[in-house]
Amino acid sequence: MSVYLGIDIGTSGTKTLAMREDGEILASATVEYPLSSPRPGWSEQAPEDWWKASAASVRKVMKAAGLKPDEVAGIGLSGQMHGSVFLDRDHNVVRPALLWNDQRTAAECEEIERLAGGRTELIRMVANPALTGFTAPKILWLRNNEKRKFDRTTKVLLPKDYVRFCMTGEFASEVSDASGTLLLDVVNRCWSTELLQKLDICADLLPPVFESEEVTGVLTSSAATAMGLKAGIPVVGGAGDQAASAIGNGIVRGGIVSATMGTSGVVFAHSDEVQVDPAGRLHTFCHAVRGKWHVMGCVLSAGGSLQWFRNQLCQQEVAAAKRRKIDPYELITEQAESAPAGSEGLFFLPYLTGERTPHADPHARGSWIGLSLRHSKGHMARSVMEGATFAMRDSLEVIEEMNIPVREVRASGGGARSEFWRSMQADIYGKQVVTINASEGPAYGVALLAAAGTGAYKSVEQACRATISVVTKTRPQAKTRKVYDKAFPVYQQLYRSLRDDFAAISELV
Ligand code: XUL
Repeated sequence: MSVYLGIDIGTSGTKTLAMREDGEILASATVEYPLSSPRPGWSEQAPEDWWKASAASVRKVMKAAGLKPDEVAGIGLSGQMHGSVFLDRDHNVVRPALLWNDQRTAAECEEIERLAGGRTELIRMVANPALTGFTAPKILWLRNNEKRKFDRTTKVLLPKDYVRFCMTGEFASEVSDASGTLLLDVVNRCWSTELLQKLDICADLLPPVFESEEVTGVLTSSAATAMGLKAGIPVVGGAGDQAASAIGNGIVRGGIVSATMGTSGVVFAHSDEVQVDPAGRLHTFCHAVRGKWHVMGCVLSAGGSLQWFRNQLCQQEVAAAKRRKIDPYELITEQAESAPAGSEGLFFLPYLTGERTPHADPHARGSWIGLSLRHSKGHMARSVMEGATFAMRDSLEVIEEMNIPVREVRASGGGARSEFWRSMQADIYGKQVVTINASEGPAYGVALLAAAGTGAYKSVEQACRATISVVTKTRPQAKTRKVYDKAFPVYQQLYRSLRDDFAAISELV
């Protein structure tokens, strides 16, 4: 049976996995790299580290799975979205890449809206409003702030597409990741010449765009040597990490939505047609399935809020968990379970790093509201989990407002691991929450794309059908659901009440 490799160039490291044609995972390995924040709100990485980590993780996986180079029939690439790799004419990196969570481009977002002829016009051209994390504002930032480096730049690539260039010598991107640049005509699945002209960005700066399962090139002999593979292996387009993860979760038809609770929380819905929220509260991007799209909400600190709670307020639990050789989240979850649903009126707003959807507010802050003498640490733990889940429901409600059906939610990431949080999700969303057999995220999704793109399956949908199955189902409980349905509008109102205060706080520091 042939083997496919999926490589996911993440923010903390690159993860590679080897998958047999029938979907069986043979081995996976992650190689980490640093992130630098030279100023508050800046977030950068060295693209060269991504390439080194990709090569090293492939070598590790080949060794761990005992594979021979000629068993690998295809490779798929996934990666953190929106990052900007600037290359000069000799294909050297001009400066460190600006990442998806970099917040320096507020002025450029305003500039883009102005040059586009307003927000509505911008959404008409590229289906999305300008957000600081996206790629186009980063290009303008380079032009406005490091003009000499901008003048030397001959190509701008997304993170995984830089690694593709190192592997194949080809400049190429694909529609799902390209959607997050803010330069793609998402409806027609090609670069928006109209917006490029308005922004005075030369189209030659961008690589050709492919569909996600299309072969974009083959492994060169020098890359093959670095990776311990053989030259000539086809490399398919792949996908941005969220679309890739959705493929890995089998989100390839209407009605099924994924809720991935990692550091960030992402709600992802498949859509047969382009559906745009006129208010721009959610992202509308091309899906990694040919001729399909998706709508996505991104909560910046979902699992990240619980991680913050653990790090700042749970030293005792962390020490006890270490002694008992268990995960500290088990103890924190036990405490949360001791408090009733709704945390007796205690609310947590999870905006620890501002918020992206649906509020697009870099000044929003995390908050506990409703504290009383009655509240214990258990209530606090539960309210953090509830706040993160309410934030996901905020995006889910916009999806339903757009008439995209949500019949089932597929949970993955940290929020899917405990029965308690899965059941909280079912109660807060008011939907059946299921988990599936594969939990390897984006790397698995692009290994499936590689299998589909090189002929092992007729289509991406068929690849998903053959490999993915539901393993747990959690239904909402009527009583708890009622408590959350009453609490949710209060949660929503709290942000509206505090929005101006958050802006005032940001003026202070
Ligand atoms: C998606 C997004 C993140 C990054 C990093 O819009 O910004 O998911 O891709 O993982």
